[in-house]
Amino acid sequence: MNEKFSVPVHTAIIMDGNGRWAKKRGLKRTEGHKKGVEIVRRIVKASADYGMKFLTLYAFSTENWRRSKEEVNFLFHLFVTAINEYIPELKENKIKINFIGDPSPLPDFVKRSIQHAFNETAGNDRMILNIALDYGGRREIVQAVNKILSLGKKAKITEETFKNFLYTAGQPDPDLIIRTGGEKRLSNFLLYQSAYSELFFTDTLWPDFTEKEYLEILKDYSKRERRFGKAT
Ligand code: IPE
Ligand code: IPE
Ligand code: MG
Repeated sequence: MNEKFSVPVHTAIIMDGNGRWAKKRGLKRTEGHKKGVEIVRRIVKASADYGMKFLTLYAFSTENWRRSKEEVNFLFHLFVTAINEYIPELKENKIKINFIGDPSPLPDFVKRSIQHAFNETAGNDRMILNIALDYGGRREIVQAVNKILSLGKKAKITEETFKNFLYTAGQPDPDLIIRTGGEKRLSNFLLYQSAYSELFFTDTLWPDFTEKEYLEILKDYSKRERRFGKAT
């Protein structure tokens, strides 16, 4: 406790392994998602308490529409219930919720809930919690290009100004990206923003992820040397 380490300004998490967690226990995949939501709650609180400024959680990818209709529908209802229940706690912890992704394909009840949570927490400034919902990194980049084209001027785009057209406009790139569930891939997550992120992969399935392991990962991160191409 109280051991000093430098906390990433921005951490992003690919919360994977809910389905396998449930399967191992002979339960339906949806039970894994339910358990996963409880973990989200604890990790969000821990992040704000450590002094993190931005936390981005991958909740639903543009590819996740390929799952069964039942699972997709279950996930959307679970998000809405969890978000609504969670608003008072977000307010208490001064956390502002923000959604990254393209909301247009989402069902109306999800869009309304996103807007409501955003409005309710807009005044908070201790930490920004980005929920990547119907998020795809390639789509984000292509949409940015289209926005730029629609401006119709011969605007000179730099690497920095390009960022203003991404969903994460105004936010620093993730310092650390954690993926649970054992897979070693990004699955279309933060493709532009992850250029220099530190990556951490753990076999732990998301519903088994604990604050203790999170702290160990953050400490591991703080020992890494980020060279950004420089020689030491
Ligand atoms: C991550 O867990 C949650 C979402 C993608 C919504 P999975 O549902 O992908 O779990 P596994 O990978 O099948 O175990
Ligand atoms: C990535 O997990 C997306 C989220 C965690 C929301 P997936 O389970 O969808 O990734 P793949 O299909 O194994 O690449
Ligand atoms: Mg998965």
